[in-house]
Amino acid sequence: MRVFITGGTGFVGTSLTRKLADQGHQVTVLDRTIKAAAEFPSTVSFIEADSTFRGPWQERAAGHELFINLAGASIFSRWNEKTKTAIRESRILTTNNLVEAISWNKNTDTRLFSTSAVGYYGFHEDEDLTEEVPPGNDFLASVARDWEAAANQAGTSQAKVIICRFGIVLGRRGGALQQMLPLYKACMGSPLGSGRQWFSWIHEQDLVNIFLFLIDQQDIEGPFNCTAPQPVRNSEMTRAIGAALGVPTLPLRVPGFLMKLILGEFGTILLEGQKVIPGRLAKLGFPFAFPTIQSALQDLLKRNSKDK
Ligand SMILES: NC(=O)c1ccc[n+]([C@@H]2O[C@H](COP(=O)([O-])OP(=O)(O)OC[C@H]3O[C@@H](n4cnc5c(N)ncnc54)[C@H](OP(=O)(O)O)[C@@H]3O)[C@@H](O)[C@H]2O)c1
Repeated sequence: MRVFITGGTGFVGTSLTRKLADQGHQVTVLDRTIKAAAEFPSTVSFIEADSTFRGPWQERAAGHELFINLAGASIFSRWNEKTKTAIRESRILTTNNLVEAISWNKNTDTRLFSTSAVGYYGFHEDEDLTEEVPPGNDFLASVARDWEAAANQAGTSQAKVIICRFGIVLGRRGGALQQMLPLYKACMGSPLGSGRQWFSWIHEQDLVNIFLFLIDQQDIEGPFNCTAPQPVRNSEMTRAIGAALGVPTLPLRVPGFLMKLILGEFGTILLEGQKVIPGRLAKLGFPFAFPTIQSALQDLLKRNSKDK
């Protein structure tokens, strides 16, 4: 299949692009600067362009059959108006431009897999959140809602739209886990705030396999929670990282006010969470290789623990 990917050189995109190319798909990656082409199989093609602007890349994109939309500026920073604009516009403008390209495609069998995030649901206490729960009201929830709405516009040009609401992706080459590890390796890992907030996560390998699994299902549309079936509270996550690394964690909690002082509004998303359940994947029988946080961390950290 001819596959077009935005964000294909990012943390998730790199693994997904490689896997699709290994399976024989003809993959085209759109990137703002082509810096890592040598890391990919030679069958992968690259287009250098900024997806937030319309341009000739859209005509080249239009000829593909499957579209995967991963591009988006990182949310891991202290937010200000400028970073919030980048977080929003990198996603919405890219998606609008991609949807326009898809509308030029004469093929009626096109499909768009567009990313969203569990932040869509906003902050919740202990209730299980499956795909039909409505969006929240905070900044990330409003970005996710508008990002999904932009992707769903591709449905008006007969494309099937599948929305992948990612949990926090745990992996070896990037993402939240790698940002947390230095503190844990210094034996300074500890629960954040109350430690009771839910953390909905997914192992990077399961996430890539979810894409492959969903690509094989021809008749699906709409949102899928791409999270492990067993979300954990922040305090359990803390214990599990310490245990997988074989290091002690601090018995103290990092006070919430300190997190907000240091990280501003971004600190809030670490202090509050949501318990997201992959309802539709469970119904389709997706086989998770890493359903528990302990199994995921043992797999991801076995090499890291030797490095410490
Ligand atoms: N990782 C997670 O835990 C997680 C959780 C929920 C949702 N998601 C979403 O899943 C997607 C992929 O995540 P990831 O962790 O692989 O992200 P990533 O490593 O940060 O990669 C993001 C990609 O987006 C592109 N990008 C960044 N800023 C951009 C901008 N201003 N304009 C256009 N493109 C831009 C980057 O391209 P350049 O190389 O050109 O910078 C990169 O290829 C993101 O949209 C993210 O929000 C991720």
